Amino acid sequence: MASLRFSALILGLSLAFSLISPSQSLTCTSQKFTNNKLYDHCTDLSQLSSYLHWTYDSSSSSLSIAFVAAPSKSGGWIAWAINPTGAGMIGAQALIAFKDSNGSMIVNTYNISSYKSIVQEKLSFDVMDMSAEYSDGTIRIFATVALPDTAATAVNQVWQVGPSVTNGFPDKHEFQPANLNSKGTLDLLKRQSNVVSGGDSRINKKNIHGILNAVSWGIMFPIGAIIARYLKTFQSAHPAWFYLHVICQLCAYIIGVAGWGTGLKLGSESKGFQYIDHRNIGIALFCLATVQIFALFLRPKKDHKLRFYWNIYHLGIGYAILILGIFNVFKGLNMLNPAKKWKSAYLLVIVVLGLIAILLEAITWVIVLRRKSSKSTRPYNGYNNGQDRQQPLAS
Ligand SMILES: *[C@@H]1O[C@H](CO)[C@@H](O)[C@H](O)[C@H]1NC(C)=O
Ligand SMILES: *[C@@H]1O[C@H](CO)[C@@H](O)[C@H](O)[C@H]1NC(C)=O
Repeated sequence: MASLRFSALILGLSLAFSLISPSQSLTCTSQKFTNNKLYDHCTDLSQLSSYLHWTYDSSSSSLSIAFVAAPSKSGGWIAWAINPTGAGMIGAQALIAFKDSNGSMIVNTYNISSYKSIVQEKLSFDVMDMSAEYSDGTIRIFATVALPDTAATAVNQVWQVGPSVTNGFPDKHEFQPANLNSKGTLDLLKRQSNVVSGGDSRINKKNIHGILNAVSWGIMFPIGAIIARYLKTFQSAHPAWFYLHVICQLCAYIIGVAGWGTGLKLGSESKGFQYIDHRNIGIALFCLATVQIFALFLRPKKDHKLRFYWNIYHLGIGYAILILGIFNVFKGLNMLNPAKKWKSAYLLVIVVLGLIAILLEAITWVIVLRRKSSKSTRPYNGYNNGQDRQQPLAS
């Protein structure tokens, strides 16, 4: 039995590492922000050694971005724009950042209606939390924009770098091929920019992490708990319920450890510390579940005097895993912010499991009360948390 647990652990860990092994090829994934801002996606833009980090919230159609680029000369400027009307510079609604003469970073909004008319004014959409920072020759622009078209699945983006700033106004940029081709679509639904071919393997990792953990901690552990609590009421389910329970929870544990491994890897790559609760709950879950696996080997015979304490330990940890697991899946879903249907689907699964549990709870009580009244002459044969009818483990 101990070797079974050990090989399960090895299997889980190797599964975890095989899933997280593909290495990062994008430069942007290693970029960190001093303000600990985190974005769901990033892409190495095709021109001008520029990078875009972004999070798109489809419910509010707001796009948070960090644009990273180096001005073509020190003392120059960088710009990132959305063009609601076309593909290039004409019509672009731009955020331009540069170092002011007094040394502080400035980011302004410009309406570029033609090559001649670059006017510093409000844009055709709202821009919030606008700021810029400078480090090591690189400028970063941070902003959140309310996309004008709330049904948009993609936006035209344009970016640029320039050599200098005169009297607080950005001077003309060069007209090299890189300066002319620095545009593309940002596909908000596919979650990658079509100007880069590499894709975003971090998204895949997050999805794998989410699926493994939702299936194990969020669905299989609760099902295993329902099996243990309710199936044993039915005499015909002996001892099958016990083996079903053990197999279900062992599988959940193996998949859960794999998901946990992907989570730790994601956490170590994450730029910042905002997900600390999710991480700590994940670690607590792993510890509790590992202790819970030992319950199988430490289980005293049903009439042993320690059995009472074992029941408290096993049930207590079981319920803790149940609650923390479901809680952390929802926390993860909020962080990952997938399409709404995934959150709804998981919610539906939990509601259905809850209804099944309530129904079985009622049936259990009916059966137990009937048994009590029909066999009332025989004491201690009623519903005693089911433990008195539990079959000894065949090992
Ligand atoms: C620099 O000048 C800008 C206005 O041009 C002002 O808003 C900012 O506070 C100034 N910063 C410092 C450090 O003086
Ligand atoms: C930008 O400039 C053009 C031309 O002057 C004007 O028609 C348009 O309304 C401006 N856009 C905004 C958002 O001010």
